[in-house]
Amino acid sequence: MARKKIIAGNWKMNMTPSQAVKLVEELAPLVKNDEVDVVYCVPAIDIVPVVEAVKGSNVQVGAENMYFEESGAYTGEISAAMLVDAGVKYVIIGHSERRDYFKEDDALLNKKVKKAIEAGLVPILCCGESLEQREMGVTMDWIRFQIKSDLVGVTADQVKDIVIAYEPIWAIGTGKTATTEQAEEVCKGIRECIAEMYDQATADAVRIQYGGSVNAGNAAELFAQPNIDGGLVGGASLKADFGKIVCY
Ligand code: 13P
Repeated sequence: MARKKIIAGNWKMNMTPSQAVKLVEELAPLVKNDEVDVVYCVPAIDIVPVVEAVKGSNVQVGAENMYFEESGAYTGEISAAMLVDAGVKYVIIGHSERRDYFKEDDALLNKKVKKAIEAGLVPILCCGESLEQREMGVTMDWIRFQIKSDLVGVTADQVKDIVIAYEPIWAIGTGKTATTEQAEEVCKGIRECIAEMYDQATADAVRIQYGGSVNAGNAAELFAQPNIDGGLVGGASLKADFGKIVCY
């Protein structure tokens, strides 16, 4: 069964609410492609206006983070239920910027993944190696560790609906894209890891994105790889180029 490609923008900490609505309106005619899933993962404060702005279109909205607790005294955090109620469908979990700057570890991310699924959100679970790890030759060991620990206690049935994003840290925001071969090799390795942890049918169902300096020029070749089911796009998701990536 062919996997539907999923092309998501990760806006990171960009766009005020009014800028966000303007961007959605500008992109609206450019991102019409029913053959792929299109998602805007936006800052928390932009969620409500962006959900409103994409109404009636093919675009769905994602969050960039969430907390695993149901509710309570967690100042500054946002729950899965809040996201669902606001009309959010996807949530990025474990982006390397969260792992790095905000010290999110795999035990925490595992709780977030489970809570997101329980609430009915689709996690976009990020993994990826540093340049140092790549040069040491431990890329796949590291990514297997991340995937295995982030998915502890998640069932096959649940895993087949999640999205995994492979984002080599050295390719994020650097303009330095992994070669098509490097990206495909790791995405294939992730699928093999899922097959070992669960079964082949689950591995065949899970969608695996590549992220890291995806742009209008390299998207088509990356997305043509057998194990790359779309992209998680940072910088290029904030401009008209995103339309070219979606309609690659
Ligand atoms: P860039 O596309 O800006 O390299 O960012 C990638 C990324 O981190 C998406 O989550």
